[in-house]
Amino acid sequence: MTQQSTRVAGKVALISGAAQGMGASHARTLVEHGAQVVIGDLAQEQGRELAHELGADNALFVHLDVTDYDSWVAAVAATVQQFGRLDVLVNNAGIFTRGSVEEASVEDFKRTIDIDLTGNFLGMKAAVPALKDAGGGSIINISSIAGLVGFKNRAAYSAAKWGVQGLTKTSAMDLGEYNIRVNSVHPGSVRTPMTAGLKRGFGQVPLGRDADVQEISNIVLFLASDESSFVTGGAYAIDGGETAGNNLRTDA
Ligand SMILES: NC(=O)c1ccc[n+]([C@@H]2O[C@H](COP(=O)([O-])OP(=O)(O)OC[C@H]3O[C@@H](n4cnc5c(N)ncnc54)[C@H](O)[C@@H]3O)[C@@H](O)[C@H]2O)c1
Repeated sequence: MTQQSTRVAGKVALISGAAQGMGASHARTLVEHGAQVVIGDLAQEQGRELAHELGADNALFVHLDVTDYDSWVAAVAATVQQFGRLDVLVNNAGIFTRGSVEEASVEDFKRTIDIDLTGNFLGMKAAVPALKDAGGGSIINISSIAGLVGFKNRAAYSAAKWGVQGLTKTSAMDLGEYNIRVNSVHPGSVRTPMTAGLKRGFGQVPLGRDADVQEISNIVLFLASDESSFVTGGAYAIDGGETAGNNLRTDA
């Protein structure tokens, strides 16, 4: 891939769940704008293909299970070994599970928290020493609109994504002294493999549509770059206005 700008030139980013969907788009976008990226995912074949597409000078695939702390430590070590530093962590890997408190199984609840919330904590814990070594950095935690408002029939997912917001704000306070910025991004509905099977209208979205992955990558690029050097502890909705307010029609 050819570099189109230098907005994140010289920066090295580790992105979880980057083999497909939004994470893959974040990897492509950061490379386009000058960064080197490490694609961490369980999906080896897709992850390796993406790294190949981006080129060995720009990208590396590492097998990563975000629920396993040792796997994170190995991914951070591989990043520093290959590219010499770590400046940006994008905690993007996640799963989407259904069910109210009554319907969701205990196992599904625990698995969702493990991947969608504990995975972010483990990633941050493993990355912070390397970010400190780099003199600071940016942690971007991918939450959801389910981490800004309640989300019907998604008890575990919403609990995990709200947890990400709390972890983010608290860590922004704890890590500011090291010049490590921590922000959460809260996408609405985005066209990825995760949402491919969902039958959902967009009447509740003021912009009346779902998002292209690039529209989420654009804010990840901004938060990864020095353009956001005074931005930390924020929670950014990228949702076409879906959480702006009650969407009752005035003529209803
Ligand atoms: N698609 C949406 O509409 C939407 C909306 C809001 C938030 N999100 C969030 O954005 C993130 C990315 O979503 P997406 O739609 O691109 O999903 P996706 O399902 O298309 O991709 C998720 C990736 O995460 C990887 N993954 C899953 N479990 C993992 C684990 N234990 N360790 C490492 N990798 C793992 C998968 O292999 C996959 O490559 C998720 O956190 C999701 O909750 C998505």
